[in-house]
Amino acid sequence: MPPEGTGGGIAIVIDVLRASTTIVTALTHGALGVRPALSIEEARVAAATPRPGPPGTLLGGERGGIKIEGFDLGNSPLDYTPDRVTGRWIVITTTNGTAAIDACRNSSVIFVGALVNRLAVVRLARATAISRDIRDIHLVCAGTDGEVTEEDLLAAGAMLWAASMEAPSSDHDILDTASHTAIARYCALIKEGPDGSYAAIKQALLKALQASIGGRNLVALGMDRDLPAAAAIDSLAVVPILDHETGWLIAAGGGGA
Ligand code: MLT
Repeated sequence: MPPEGTGGGIAIVIDVLRASTTIVTALTHGALGVRPALSIEEARVAAATPRPGPPGTLLGGERGGIKIEGFDLGNSPLDYTPDRVTGRWIVITTTNGTAAIDACRNSSVIFVGALVNRLAVVRLARATAISRDIRDIHLVCAGTDGEVTEEDLLAAGAMLWAASMEAPSSDHDILDTASHTAIARYCALIKEGPDGSYAAIKQALLKALQASIGGRNLVALGMDRDLPAAAAIDSLAVVPILDHETGWLIAAGGGGA
């Protein structure tokens, strides 16, 4: 689904490697809010704008996968430890993920989803659709340079699979073709696991991330440790939601891991 087509609906923006995983981790570990910025310049300006609470908004993000010069944090979820981020505001700019969030700005509700908060985001999106009478939920894969990537497709499939397990069967009929493709990819992957346990599913996801283009790039950059962090399906309960008025993502659902 192109982000521009999400107007009026609920958008779940997915960038498993790594922006969405990192944003969920930051809020889980106590960040007050995360503000996505499109450019390095915009990020610096936003970080210089005073916020309530402790001074010194943190700057995070990457270009080419590498931490931006002068920034406090990169785009690794492992950078966003409780001791670095608790009680802090963070402005983040990444190559594809923050642009995908921005492109969904006409959606009524914007959530950030990843493998790590898969179940939490599925449940909150469904509850929000019902309570606000919103018909369409769009899974927006940030991908790379406009192309859908394997890891984002798998996460979308994992979300749709979880949703289909929890929903009445009539809901299945209203999935579009891309959604059926995503579910099929995820189901093919989890069948490869030796059993249906979470450990087996996580292992199968990790192997898929390692084989993906984004995963291979991270390995080449020496950031292999980000891959198990990104593959840890259903390990976190926080769902980032965009406050349209302020442009900040804040934690909805769960809180703390
Ligand atoms: C992006 O937004 O393009 C990614 O999150 C890049 C990355 O892995 O750092």
